[in-house]
Amino acid sequence: MKISILTLFPEMFDGFLQTSIIKKARLKRLVDYEIVDIRSFTLDKHRRVDDYPFGGGQGMVMFPQPVVDALRSVKQEDSHVVLMTPAAPTFQQAKARSLAEYTHLILICAHYEGYDERILNYVDEVVSIGDYVLTGGELASMVVSDAVTRLIKGVITEDSNRYESFEDGLLEYPQYTRPVEFEGQTVPEILLSGHHEKIAAYRLKESLRKTYRYRKDLLAKQEFNQKTAKVLKEIIDEEK
Ligand code: 6GU
Repeated sequence: MKISILTLFPEMFDGFLQTSIIKKARLKRLVDYEIVDIRSFTLDKHRRVDDYPFGGGQGMVMFPQPVVDALRSVKQEDSHVVLMTPAAPTFQQAKARSLAEYTHLILICAHYEGYDERILNYVDEVVSIGDYVLTGGELASMVVSDAVTRLIKGVITEDSNRYESFEDGLLEYPQYTRPVEFEGQTVPEILLSGHHEKIAAYRLKESLRKTYRYRKDLLAKQEFNQKTAKVLKEIIDEEK
């Protein structure tokens, strides 16, 4: 897969591309990142990429021309074009999975207070990463491309995907590693027992507990089998 990111701040991606799993995936040629500087496409004699909004108001609005020309310089027949903006549906794991199916993703980072609305006619979809405002789409594009990259076959072990938060609509169960006792706190006995069924039951229950505590909205969205519904009832009682 190739991921092209169009931005006014290419240097923001240095650390992201040169660290950890993303770096390894690139070196293994599982993903090819291309960072494109939108400013290099400006036709303005002062190299400007934005101006005040028509009609007045706060902040600067990105010109359509440098963005559209930057897009045309990288766009192929198989490209899927995404504009990063808070005025969009919020990014979810399901969206990460569907974006991971494309052979070429183009993420456009809008900066300053906004972008000329006509840019929307050149993109396939708009994506926000949550209900808060960032200074630009750069961090959001890193969030999206990180979530997509780790889903590419070979980037991480298949198993680490299946058991993760959101893959089954629940938050992940608590995990422990050495030492068995840390400052008086011990690891739950059951995890040391080697009893795989009991461990699975414990993990399901604790997944449900975290989801109940922090994300009741996720529970409301799904139907549980009888066994799970019963465990959820126990938790609701225990958490009172
Ligand atoms: Cl995609 N861009 C900006 N500027 N702020 C955001 C966002 C994107 N998603 C959430 N907040």
